[in-house]
Order: sequence, then structure tokens, then C-alpha cells
Amino acid sequence: MTEQVIKNKKILITGGTSGLGLNLVRIFLEKGYHVVTTGRRELPSSEQGERFSYYRVDFSDLENTAAAFKEIIKVHEFDMVINNAGILSPVHRTITKNGLEYTFQVNFLAHFIINEIIIRNHPDSKKLRIATLSSPVYRFAKVHSISDNQYSAIGAYSGSKLYQAMMCSHLDEIYRGKNLLFFSFDPGVFSSGIYRMQSRFFSFLYKIAAPFMRSSGKVANVLASIITQEEIRSGVLYNYRKRIKPIPVPEKDAADAFWKECREKISSFLD
Ligand SMILES: NC(=O)c1ccc[n+]([C@@H]2O[C@H](COP(=O)([O-])OP(=O)(O)OC[C@H]3O[C@@H](n4cnc5c(N)ncnc54)[C@H](OP(=O)(O)O)[C@@H]3O)[C@@H](O)[C@H]2O)c1
Repeated sequence: MTEQVIKNKKILITGGTSGLGLNLVRIFLEKGYHVVTTGRRELPSSEQGERFSYYRVDFSDLENTAAAFKEIIKVHEFDMVINNAGILSPVHRTITKNGLEYTFQVNFLAHFIINEIIIRNHPDSKKLRIATLSSPVYRFAKVHSISDNQYSAIGAYSGSKLYQAMMCSHLDEIYRGKNLLFFSFDPGVFSSGIYRMQSRFFSFLYKIAAPFMRSSGKVANVLASIITQEEIRSGVLYNYRKRIKPIPVPEKDAADAFWKECREKISSFLD
């Protein structure tokens, strides 16, 4: 692709202030894309530039998230989106101001809203690729009702990562025949800032293990190469080795009930 064509391309990367997201921002700026990214904190000033836009958005506040993205799409039309922002679950069940479990909302539901806002305002003639960050633990999760109060940190995190993977298959089914392509990505485990909110003991273990872990830069390179590859499949999950892996399929009734509940929750944010 010529340099001029790439310069006209625009990518949204959520959570571009740290770890994998920050590396993806740097890779796509280097490739010549216009990069739009989000986060909650102040950005290092070295990231500023004319092909770079940063928005402070907190996904634990759905009004704030939807309002911000309704403004973002007035200014930016995307070629690619990477749903990257995410947290490890808090030790104790934490409820957002929207009345939802924190991990479920930040990792999954906020991205579901963002994707729908972008897709519904995207011109039919223009291609769009949406990638979503899953995790190796998606395999151990089960689909639960949103109102299920049972909580474990690992259950909440793995659930959010299964839902992110399922979201790509779901959106692929809903929008099949359009110029849209969806895939999720299991990056394996890598060193990043994600462990900063964990207990002191966990953070201590992480500091010991980090030098032996895969770097977030390496993982970012793999994801960037998949999303820019000419031929990729829609509705599937790719792993770090670029292989397609199965997504556990919940029973049809459970899946239908889950998507109905999610759509009811997000509908007021899409108007
Ligand atoms: N690290 C791993 O081993 C691993 C393994 C599998 C999957 N993943 C997934 O990879 C993705 C990137 O993680 P990472 O390891 O690079 O983590 P990270 O370094 O902690 O980066 C997370 C990003 O998400 C943003 N974020 C967190 N909470 C947010 C909120 N409430 N609202 C808006 N943005 C928020 C952060 O921005 P601010 O702090 O500025 O808000 C930051 O830019 C995540 O989805 C994670 O689940 C990571």
C-alpha cells in the first residue's frame, strides 16, 4: 500500500496510555496511520503529533463513554478499531455508577456500546475492521446473567474476556453482508501495567516474573500484523501464533438471553 493511502487511514485504539495499547499506538503512528486513542490519565507529551488524537474517557461511566464517542465519530471515520482497554478484576465485587460489575462494564459492555455507535454511523461503502482483546482464560468462563451476584475476581475477568470474544461472532452475525470484519485476539500472557491495581503480594510476584514474560511490544506487533493482513476471517478468535482457536459456544437459549439482556442495557446509550 502506498504511503499516501496509509496516511489517510484512521485507527481507534482504546486504552492507548499503557502496555499493549501504548505499543499499538506507536506502531500505527510509525506506519503512517492517524491514531485516535483513549484513556483516563494525562498522556506523556512525547505521544503528541498531528496524526494523533487523544480523548480522556472513563469506561466505568457509560454516560461519559457514550457521550465521548458520539463526539468522536463526528470528527473521525475509522478504518480499524482495536478494543484494547481493560483491567484485571478487583478482589471484591465492585459496582459502577451504572449498577454493573466493574470488569464486565469496563472490559466488555463499554466496548459493545462503542462498537455499536461507530458501526451505526459508519458509511456502508467503507470497510471497517474491529478487533477485540480476549485472554487465555476465556476458555474457562461460562455465560452468566448480568444480574448474577456471585463473584470471584478470576470468574469476572475470564467472563469479560469470553464476552469480548463472543461479541465478535455476535456482531459478525448481525452485520453479515456489510463491509465489516470482526475478530478477537488471545495475546497469551505478557508484561504490562495491568497488574498495578492488584494486591501488594501479587505485584511483588509480578515484579519477579515480568523479566521472563513476553513483552507488550512483541504482542502489539503480532496484533498489528493480523489486523493489517489482506485475508483474515471474520467472527473468529486468533491467538498469538496467528492460529484460529474455537470460542466455547454457549447453549443457544443462554446466548440469546445474554445478548437480549446486553442490548436492553445499552439501548438508552445509543439514541
Ligand atoms: N497483560 C496481560 O498479560 C494480558 C493478557 C491477556 C489479555 N490482556 C488484555 O490486553 C489488554 C491491554 O492490557 P495491558 O496488559 O496492556 O494493560 P495496561 O497496561 O493496564 O493497559 C490498560 C489500558 O486500559 C485503560 N483503562 C483501564 N481502565 C479503564 C477505564 N475504566 N476506562 C478507560 N480506560 C481504561 C488504561 O488507561 P488509563 O489507565 O489511562 O485509564 C490503559 O491504557 C486488556 O484488555 C487486557 O485484559 C492482557
